[in-house]
Amino acid sequence: MHKIHIYRISLMLAIFVLIFYMTWRPIVADIEEIPYLIGMSQCNLGEPWRIKMNEDLIARAQEYPEIRLVLTDAAQDNQKQIEDVKWLMDLGIDLLIISPNESEPLTPIISEAYQKIPVIVLDRKVNSDDYTLFIGADNRVIGMRAGEYVKNLLGPAGGHVVEIMGLPGSKPTVERSEGFRDSLSDRDNIRIVEEITANWLRDPAEDSFFAYLQTHKSEKIDVVYSHNDPMALGAYRAAQKAHRTDMVFIGIDGLIGEEGGINLVKEGVLDITFIYPTGGAEAIECALQLLRRQTFSQKEIILDNIRIDKNNCDPYLHRET
Ligand code: FRU
Repeated sequence: MHKIHIYRISLMLAIFVLIFYMTWRPIVADIEEIPYLIGMSQCNLGEPWRIKMNEDLIARAQEYPEIRLVLTDAAQDNQKQIEDVKWLMDLGIDLLIISPNESEPLTPIISEAYQKIPVIVLDRKVNSDDYTLFIGADNRVIGMRAGEYVKNLLGPAGGHVVEIMGLPGSKPTVERSEGFRDSLSDRDNIRIVEEITANWLRDPAEDSFFAYLQTHKSEKIDVVYSHNDPMALGAYRAAQKAHRTDMVFIGIDGLIGEEGGINLVKEGVLDITFIYPTGGAEAIECALQLLRRQTFSQKEIILDNIRIDKNNCDPYLHRET
């Protein structure tokens, strides 16, 4: 009697294990067959350039069956991005790619992740050396090139500039501004008459610049230097609304598409822009090398920026760089 009972229990257990195995086997096999789980912590997806970065990451990752990419969106919220990184770590990612919203609040969690896995910092720098690799263009150089353009444009007479700034705590804001100012430092007669912080966003740039123009109706403005194309477009719209056609606009990003910087140059909205590469494809290539235990001799990969003006915009109108 006792033996029969044990047989029954064993049989039921065997059936249960068999059903469980058959149900879950495809999932288990799937995970086992994909050796590398990469986490991408994106600071926001509210701007076209960020969407392009994610598209570049996904497109390149799809070329490698051994990679699975998990992406999060912090919606420009530092605390949310810290939570995102924790969530990715708990998920068991093998490597973290991160484009931090603001440097200071994100630095500690990036250091923490770096104690455990390789970390690639993409486009926006952090305040420590606790990461494996930085990939991005040189924002100080872009700022300097914008400054050189302004000096040539205004000539010996000089003039007035309004600077539209990105998010204050993000490194590209600081570096694009510093490079620009360094380049103008040998010219006393070029004055930055106003700094407007629009946090990288088009509509706040439009509203704030319009308000400025309303209160400074008689002030001459020659150039609006904006830290990205969406804010430059916003500022341009404000100037149109205020019937001010006496100034030129400079942007950065150089995306393709109707509201992309290259088309805006073509249409005469912007005088110049700079193609600021997302680094998405490069990040996946480097991630794979790191996961395959290949090491890098350098800690930074600096991507090229290309200045776009009305003379060279045509070939770039449809081309992804
Ligand atoms: C998008 C963006 C770009 C800019 C970059 C700087 O979030 O604002 O427009 O070039 O970030 O990190």
